[in-house]
Amino acid sequence: MRTQVAIVGAGPAGLTLARLLEVAGIESVVLENRSREYVEHRIRAGVLEQGTVELLREAGVGARMDGEGIVHHGINLQFDGERHHVPLTDLSGGRSIVIYGQTEVVKDLVAARVESGLPLLFDVDGVTVETLDSERPRISFERDGTRHELECDVVAGCDGFHGVCRTSIPAGVLSTFERDYPFAWLGILAAVAPSIDELVYAHHERGFALLSLRSPDLSRYYVQCRPDEPLEDWPDERIWEELQLRTALDGWTLHEGPVLEKGITGMRSFVVEPMQHGRLFLAGDAAHIVPPTGAKGLNLAIADVHVLAEAIVDRYASGSTTGLDSYSDVCLRRVWRAEHFSWWMTTMLHRLDGEDPFDAKLQLSLLRYVTSSEAAARSLAENYVGLTTL
Ligand code: FAD
Ligand code: DHB
Repeated sequence: MRTQVAIVGAGPAGLTLARLLEVAGIESVVLENRSREYVEHRIRAGVLEQGTVELLREAGVGARMDGEGIVHHGINLQFDGERHHVPLTDLSGGRSIVIYGQTEVVKDLVAARVESGLPLLFDVDGVTVETLDSERPRISFERDGTRHELECDVVAGCDGFHGVCRTSIPAGVLSTFERDYPFAWLGILAAVAPSIDELVYAHHERGFALLSLRSPDLSRYYVQCRPDEPLEDWPDERIWEELQLRTALDGWTLHEGPVLEKGITGMRSFVVEPMQHGRLFLAGDAAHIVPPTGAKGLNLAIADVHVLAEAIVDRYASGSTTGLDSYSDVCLRRVWRAEHFSWWMTTMLHRLDGEDPFDAKLQLSLLRYVTSSEAAARSLAENYVGLTTL
């Protein structure tokens, strides 16, 4: 088999890249080691930046998002028993965010690919990436018990943090930058109308809590927990109790409902540089991870493949490799801004382990500043909705 672009991974990065290339008339093959059912139901992010929304729309996969996505113009920060509104749209020159689950983005992209009849292979095993330094990189994989070889011009490593593409780059090429956090998020999806109109990020002495949503009758809520806590220690009653305590506000009620899904997600910051080697280009979680507090992971993945798609299109149209050569440098500017913002939101809002009273005072001072100074709130807002000037 041969193709122009081999894409490893059918998450948001791989599927969006495949769609952008299809629109530009460039061939690709997408290889995914999980099943279609699995990738379409893996519950993760829920906040789309305006730039992400516009790109999906331009790629012709925005119809259901435009119908079912919920536009939000602000978020709330809660601390010290008070809830403060941050008017994102007013503070960011009119930009907004859309609440639309990653599961739905993935379903729309998979449906579009299937409808176009283009190669998207689920359930492949043993993917290996070889001869990256040559003109003709080769991918090998197994499907239905048979080994296949795929020759291509470019490999897009969109296979997430645990994928094989990053680790196929020879030792010594990549520099790694990382930070671990001593906490995690326990997330639930609950069959109950959201008790809030806009997201609530709550700082509380018992730990952070986040109130989000998926639709008019599905709520998505999170509480800070320890990364090593077994899920069995968190029966539904305990989760609701913590949510109630951490988000309590006079005159407001958090409505409870059946928990449909729950899971614990660890938190880390991670970046490799450069995001490319020879003809392999890493995109999304394969190259970088942010803690989820800034809602940036999915948006960064899509921003990367936007840059990559344009560079690949230019390479075929004009023969110029300028765009491909600068891929990593261009992406890393946005990546590091998101790394800083996500770290900043995370350390501002969570209960830090063995909290030093000095740190706790700094957190509260920062929260007061962000919710009382327009300049500080504007800085949060422009990062949250996604910077356009990078
Ligand atoms: P992924 O979505 O990870 O996609 C990679 C794909 O590659 C997967 O489908 C995987 O199965 C496939 N793959 C892996 N290895 C191979 C292989 N060897 N061969 C072939 N295919 C392979 N972000 C937020 O903003 N908010 C959140 O609440 C949030 N929650 C998260 C919860 C969890 C549990 C995780 C892991 C991430 C969460 N994120 C969140 C981050 C966000 O979901 C990711 O940044 C986003 O999914 C990145 O997209 P991606 O396409 O780069 O990677
Ligand atoms: C959601 C996830 C986030 O990480 C975040 O910052 C806001 C909302 C969500 O899943 O809805």
